Amino acid sequence: LRVAVLASGRGSNLQALIAARDAGGLPVDFVAVGSDKKDAGALQLAKDAGIPTFTLNPKDFATRRDFDVELFRQLDATGAQMLVLAGFMRIIDGEALAPWVGRMINIHPSLLPKYRGLHTHRRALEAGDAEHGASVHYVTAELDGGPVIAQARIVIQPGDDEAQLAQRLLGFEHQLLPAVLTLMAEQRLTLIAPDRVAFNGKA
Ligand code: GRF
Repeated sequence: LRVAVLASGRGSNLQALIAARDAGGLPVDFVAVGSDKKDAGALQLAKDAGIPTFTLNPKDFATRRDFDVELFRQLDATGAQMLVLAGFMRIIDGEALAPWVGRMINIHPSLLPKYRGLHTHRRALEAGDAEHGASVHYVTAELDGGPVIAQARIVIQPGDDEAQLAQRLLGFEHQLLPAVLTLMAEQRLTLIAPDRVAFNGKA
């Protein structure tokens, strides 16, 4: 499976994917890592791993749609069959992403449908939740709203602060994302309706 990854930040989830591939458990070929931030740590990690990279600066585009059209033009040119958003901090235009629905996943640090958007750890703490987690979901036009494929769930400890909670969860994200991408590579997952995921052909 030819996979492209989009990331805006440090890239620890990308690193987990590369490590899983290197360990032999993830049968994918990373054809590109793209970013909207030229200083993203993810770009350096990709370069170190010999993966081609590209950056698009949002300031070079008049509209969000223009940016997204160019983004998908570049991704198409890589030959990617599947896209992974690993900390890509931009909302993607629904029409621009439509051809990729069913072939694009995102990792989000909450137990979706709880806490779409930003500051998920803080919101879980402020709500007094007993549990927190991360979700990998198919990307659709609705922000953090596509069908969930799998989740990692952790217990919130008394005394957890935002940073501790984020850090502890990250270790689980690093297992969850490679695990889901492995299922994708093995063709065990299918998006069969806008809100339904089939596993091994069963919904
Ligand atoms: C992760 O918490 C991920 O769930 C969220 O953005 C963060 C990215 O971290 N979407 P990293 O760049 O992979 O280290």
